Amino acid sequence: MARIGIFFGSTTGNTRKVAKMIKKHFDDDTMADPKNINKATPEDLAAYEYLIFGTPTMGEGQLPGLSAECEEESWEEALIRLDGVDFTGKTVALYGLGDQVTYTNEFVDGLMELHDFVVDRGGTVVGAWPTEGYDFTSSQAVVDDKFVGLALDNDNQSSLTEGRVKDWLKLIAPAFNLAV
Ligand SMILES: Cc1cc2nc3c(=O)[nH]c(=O)nc-3n(C[C@H](O)[C@H](O)[C@H](O)COP(=O)(O)O)c2cc1C
Repeated sequence: MARIGIFFGSTTGNTRKVAKMIKKHFDDDTMADPKNINKATPEDLAAYEYLIFGTPTMGEGQLPGLSAECEEESWEEALIRLDGVDFTGKTVALYGLGDQVTYTNEFVDGLMELHDFVVDRGGTVVGAWPTEGYDFTSSQAVVDDKFVGLALDNDNQSSLTEGRVKDWLKLIAPAFNLAV
């Protein structure tokens, strides 16, 4: 089994595409194929010591799911199902898709919900990312001037996504025991 699990939620495919972009950097022994969080069981997550979670922010600063008027269940419902997972000893890196222009007051807010979910259950979140290069008014996902995970904006800065992903993978490599 692969060492690292990667799980995403996605409404129009941007977050799924980034999951595939990340997976391309690693062989099958290192990273599992990306899995939609709406199909993930508690056992799926419990199996990995290292995890990457990806989410868009939807609604008004929310995780995707039925409350955010998404067509399908996603992270919102998954977090209820996964409530009992113990993250003690697990290392988790987060990436989030958002739109800093249209949603400048709640840019990538959803990242923070995933961060708190993991930390509240004993996990360690790595991969905080600088806010330089973005232009937004406010984000719940910023702690000490950094996003709690990689922030990506495919609506306004899609040409930067691939480079940001590469740099972020280098950043998390030591915590994930990875050669990038
Ligand atoms: C209805 C709707 C609400 C959104 N709300 C937010 C938001 O609150 N904050 C944010 O940063 N981006 C917001 N976005 C932008 C999405 O997060 C962005 O388009 C993202 O790339 C979608 O990823 P996906 O294709 O994986 O679902 C919203 C987009 C839509 C369509």
